[in-house]
Amino acid sequence: MVKIKALKNGPYLVEGKGPWKVVSDGEEKTVEQATIALCRCGHSKNKPFCDGSHKTVGFEAEEHELTSE
Ligand code: FES
Repeated sequence: MVKIKALKNGPYLVEGKGPWKVVSDGEEKTVEQATIALCRCGHSKNKPFCDGSHKTVGFEAEEHELTSE
């Protein structure tokens, strides 16, 4: 199961079965956590992951939740 939560004024939380294989600009790395936070505001300095920058830029967005069995 994979669950994606778009947090109010914050990142996408992706919950599933880790580890995650992440490919960015052709470079691959492994993230061990089951839950990861992906940047939704566009201001993270550690994309694709959220680094908390959304708080300092005043990012505003609705919350949503999607689940796949
Ligand atoms: S959503 Fe957190 S840094 Fe972009």
